[in-house]
Amino acid sequence: MTVGGGHQVRLRVNGVSREVQVEPRTTLADLLRVHLGLTGTHLGCEHGVCGACTVVVDGESTRSCLMLAVQADGTDVTTVEGLTGASTASSTRSRRRSRGSTACSAASARQASSWLCTRC
Ligand code: FES
Repeated sequence: MTVGGGHQVRLRVNGVSREVQVEPRTTLADLLRVHLGLTGTHLGCEHGVCGACTVVVDGESTRSCLMLAVQADGTDVTTVEGLTGASTASSTRSRRRSRGSTACSAASARQASSWLCTRC
């Protein structure tokens, strides 16, 4: 839906219904990080290569840097924050930091669907 030059996007994020107005070029990653403050979704290459931005959209592992926010209208999105609670996400981030990486570049689409990379 277009509202005042922006687009209204309605989606469920981690089980909560959300409504956000975005610019047409806004990516799903930016909607999650900037508009909803879900910074567990990282940005690395922003070209669909590294997997740092992977989220689950309607049950499918998705590179959120390659998906426009407007394409996510009506979908059900799960981010790392929505997995098993903040302590798990925090623990995963701590392990990443201790290994000197900002995101799990080892996570392939298959690994991301289970959300638990075995290398970090
Ligand atoms: S930021 Fe690297 S795949 Fe999206």
